Amino acid sequence: MQLPEQSVLEPPLSSFASDNAAGALPEAIAALAAANVGGTPAYGDDPWTRSAIQSIQELFDCPAQVGFCWGGTGANVVALGSVLKRHQSVICSEQAHINQDECGAPEALLGVKLVDLPTEDAKLRPEHIVAAASVGVGSEHHVQPGVVSITQSTESGTLYQPAEIAAIAEVTHDHGMLLHLDGARLANAAAALGVSVSAITSEVGVDVVSMGGTKAGMVFGEAVVFLDERLGGEFRFVRKQLAQLPSKMRFISAQFEAILKDSTWISAASHANQMAARLASGAAKIDGVTLRRHPEVNSVFATLDRDVIAKLQAWSFFWDWEESINEVRWMTSFDTTEADVDRFLAGVRAAVAGERLG
Ligand SMILES: Cc1ncc(COP(=O)(O)O)c(C=O)c1O
Repeated sequence: MQLPEQSVLEPPLSSFASDNAAGALPEAIAALAAANVGGTPAYGDDPWTRSAIQSIQELFDCPAQVGFCWGGTGANVVALGSVLKRHQSVICSEQAHINQDECGAPEALLGVKLVDLPTEDAKLRPEHIVAAASVGVGSEHHVQPGVVSITQSTESGTLYQPAEIAAIAEVTHDHGMLLHLDGARLANAAAALGVSVSAITSEVGVDVVSMGGTKAGMVFGEAVVFLDERLGGEFRFVRKQLAQLPSKMRFISAQFEAILKDSTWISAASHANQMAARLASGAAKIDGVTLRRHPEVNSVFATLDRDVIAKLQAWSFFWDWEESINEVRWMTSFDTTEADVDRFLAGVRAAVAGERLG
């Protein structure tokens, strides 16, 4: 399809609101069509699912138990619900998606308590965990620490180095807990760090991963990966009860297989990260824009005057982040082009200069 020529003040074609606002990778779309070949057993007893599970086991370099879910919140709740008892808690950052952006799903559906700790950059540190895990242990008046949940890359666009995850895993296990990793943006993290997926999961003591497919370029679908397969004993029942068992599972499995092939998802995430770096470098040169930090992955956090934010949001929507300090989040994705970034920057420049947009 020929897209229309745009003048510089027309909004960019791709959205900076979220990596969820992007379409899907052509490889994922082609895989959906290729899997549409008549009947096959439902609920995962199909060749696409067997093959995708094997690819994910190879990715994590261990005989993991792997299962597919519809969405990211669902995968998190299923992962946690498979390994927790109702009197146990999840220690996480206050900024964690499970805490702030899942409508209370872990508490509501699992009946467990989230112990959300204040963190400046959305990263838990071993000392946070030691302090939180030492409260009320063994007393029936207190929740018992069950799981530590970290996000890689984090909701604030920061990264855990492999050694930082290893240190967290050590204190987590020393306190008798398991380590869950919300990997909705696992590909962005692996790409930014330039390491394998196993180097930030199975090799450093993570026990269970919510592995993102949607933000990595699929139409829908996430995986739950138990890196010690013995931990996944309850998984199949928990997944069904939490309404996360896809009947036509081949359409999720086929997409995973397609994006993992030739590390397509890592290349796509790397591109998204580079576009965020380009956006940040350009924005940092604009008077009236302050960046929290140079992006480590695919999100840019910027502070601007409120009236400039409103004007820009009306032109090309993005989310407020910390409204009290006029901070917004701009996200890039695999489909963000250099032209999109440059057009968006032109809009920011114009808005700051008081010019009309659109
Ligand atoms: C860190 C993180 N985890 C999980 C999710 C998945 O959420 P959803 O249920 O919208 O797919 C998201 C989506 O924004 C996220 O940012």
